[in-house]
Amino acid sequence: MSPASGPGPRWLLFSFGMGLVSGTRCPHNCQCQIQEVSCRGKQLTAYPPDIPLSTRRLYLDNNRITYLPAMNLGLLSDLVYLDCQNNLIREVMDYTFIGVFKLIYLDLSTNNLTFISPYSFSVLSKLVQLNISNNPHLAYLHKYTFANTSSLRYLDLRNTGLQILDLEAVHHLGALRTLYLSGNPWNCNCSFLDFTIYLIVTQLDHPDDQNATCFEPAELAGWPITRVGNPLRYMCITHLNNQDYIFVLLIGFCIFAAGTVAAWITGMCAVLYENARRKSDEDEADDEIGQRLEVSRRIFLIKDEPDHDGFPRLI
Ligand SMILES: *[C@@H]1O[C@H](CO)[C@@H](O)[C@H](O)[C@H]1NC(C)=O
Ligand SMILES: *[C@@H]1O[C@H](CO)[C@@H](O)[C@H](O)[C@H]1NC(C)=O
Ligand SMILES: *[C@@H]1O[C@H](CO)[C@@H](O)[C@H](O)[C@H]1NC(C)=O
Ligand SMILES: *[C@@H]1O[C@H](CO)[C@@H](O)[C@H](O)[C@H]1NC(C)=O
Ligand SMILES: *[C@@H]1O[C@H](CO)[C@@H](O)[C@H](O)[C@H]1NC(C)=O
Repeated sequence: MSPASGPGPRWLLFSFGMGLVSGTRCPHNCQCQIQEVSCRGKQLTAYPPDIPLSTRRLYLDNNRITYLPAMNLGLLSDLVYLDCQNNLIREVMDYTFIGVFKLIYLDLSTNNLTFISPYSFSVLSKLVQLNISNNPHLAYLHKYTFANTSSLRYLDLRNTGLQILDLEAVHHLGALRTLYLSGNPWNCNCSFLDFTIYLIVTQLDHPDDQNATCFEPAELAGWPITRVGNPLRYMCITHLNNQDYIFVLLIGFCIFAAGTVAAWITGMCAVLYENARRKSDEDEADDEIGQRLEVSRRIFLIKDEPDHDGFPRLI
């Protein structure tokens, strides 16, 4: 028997490829409709295989998935809607969404995110709605996290561990309309000032602003962060910390030193000038004495001049 008569590896590869391309597969236990796959609440512990490549809407919510494999996800280049709500996803890496650049809706809420890599969303320039609420261990968002998500309209950051948000992370989001910020332990210190001023000057919609309050420092605890901008500005501008005191002391010392040097130079100049003047006065006095001497010398000369008769004339 020649090897060509049976289904060789090439044929297998071909049929596998056809199966993927034709989109006839459906993950076990999930429902597949045209361009839509639903695996909601199926006790999945991992991202399901065999998702048709033409899928545009993918529901993976209410499972126990711990991570999103970039390779498999990247095959779904037409995906616009991804719901991963209520899973156990721990982190999102720079490359996680690199293949699904058409995403418009992304729900990562109610997971266990501790880390969102700075460029995770950098290809998602069409993203309109992003939900990362209910991730209590998420303590930090890098200032480039939303650098390229210029279409973002709804951003949900409720109930995370975020204490602070860099103004640079959001200030360029011109399409942003609704921002949810409640349930976070916001630290309303001076690093937060620029962001709170931004919340005042941009007319964003904050449906939950009553519950988005400062957690720290004690004197501002309970203040809604959408209104804390002005007291915070007052605090940060009038309040001097240790570094400022050192700076002020240093400046004071410099002024004092400069003053001392200036006084010394002035004194020296005065003394030198005084000396010079005294000297010239003395010279003048010397001249006077000289003149007098001259006069008396002349008188003497006259006196000494021999008379016609050879004797000095007597006055
Ligand atoms: C984000 O997800 C939470 C629950 O996971 C939900 O309650 C909330 O409405 C969602 N936010 C938006 C803006 O849809
Ligand atoms: C969530 O993440 C935290 C910190 O990494 C970990 O301690 C905790 O066990 C995780 N929770 C679950 C349910 O996996
Ligand atoms: C933003 O997108 C542009 C092209 O769409 C790309 O050149 C640039 O590198 C992206 N920026 C980041 C921070 O990924
Ligand atoms: C403000 O609080 C954040 C988070 O707690 C901290 O990282 C930052 O250093 C603080 N800034 C100042 C000026 O204290
Ligand atoms: C604020 O929080 C309270 C209790 O946690 C809740 O009952 C209320 O609906 C919240 N308000 C808004 C506007 O989210």
